[in-house]
Amino acid sequence: MPDLSSQVEDLRSQFDRDLSNASSEAELRAIRDRYLARKGGLVSALLKSLGATPADHRPRLGQLANELKQQIETRLDERLDAAARSRPPAGAVDVTLPGRRPVIGHRHPLTILREQIDSIFTRLGFLVIEGPELEDDYHNFEALNMPKEHPARDMQDTLYLSSEVRSSAGSNATLLRTHTSGMQIRYMEKFPPPVRLIAPGRVYRRDNFDLTHTPMFTQVEGLVVGEDITLAALKGILFTFAHELFGADRRVRFRPSFFPYTEPSGELDISCASCAGAGCAMCKRTGWLEILGSGMVHPAVFEAVGYDPERYTGFAFGMGIERVALLKWGVEDIRLFYENDLRFLEQFPL
Ligand code: DAH
Repeated sequence: MPDLSSQVEDLRSQFDRDLSNASSEAELRAIRDRYLARKGGLVSALLKSLGATPADHRPRLGQLANELKQQIETRLDERLDAAARSRPPAGAVDVTLPGRRPVIGHRHPLTILREQIDSIFTRLGFLVIEGPELEDDYHNFEALNMPKEHPARDMQDTLYLSSEVRSSAGSNATLLRTHTSGMQIRYMEKFPPPVRLIAPGRVYRRDNFDLTHTPMFTQVEGLVVGEDITLAALKGILFTFAHELFGADRRVRFRPSFFPYTEPSGELDISCASCAGAGCAMCKRTGWLEILGSGMVHPAVFEAVGYDPERYTGFAFGMGIERVALLKWGVEDIRLFYENDLRFLEQFPL
């Protein structure tokens, strides 16, 4: 008797534990099977074993075992009823599921860089202006001190818009601008000094695609004009810009160059990051990377827009954003910026 009655108690506490651990309808059903299944259920087995107990203990034990069976049934029914009542209707949305993250795009790396450049110059007090990609010969070349047949025009292979390229080249032909420098002319024609602006935008050249060329790319032009604008101011602005964009640890140098619309002219180099100036393939063994062209505005340019070259001086600069992007992020092929392969684009901003 004591043996079997303690078995009943053990089974009760085991059931209590199982029931308090159950958290789903499926678990409750599994518990019902484990205890009450006619074949192999724990309570059914207990009842069966009654047959082997001495006859005088049997009624009492039978009563205990049946009470346990009833309790188990009642408590399971209660829990199963409650579970059924809280079951969501078919097709309902389970608001407790974690959400699915929407795929959010981001700006193109060239846009990111352009905005960084814009923001550096706006903080320095520059105005940001835009102008037409369809330009005329006068603004793109002539007013920039590059008259017809000027050899410097060959540096920029031009896409003309008319089929009579040769005949119209003698007139004011329409073309796709080969650089943003024409924006200097467009702005100065309309507004008197002082001037402090940048003009970002797309430019076009008759180039084939390769590692460093695309027929369309992006430039940022800069122009500052006033009464006492010096070469020192040009260097100050450009060095500040280069350090802001590439980091204060990069060295910067200013090297003489030639452009028809500036005199003197110079190019800005930054120290090569991949070899720290020692010389490698990226910097063609020089330790330096060219990032932009610049100079003091040529008096002939001021004359073309009606500014008095005796009174005003100024400086101008121009850079290719793609080239800056290649150098800043160590990208080896400019075409990647235009192929729209998400595996590439998703890596920006770094
Ligand atoms: N227009 C030049 C180019 O496309 C860049 C440039 C050089 C712009 C010197 C300037 C400048 O304003 O002063 O390569």
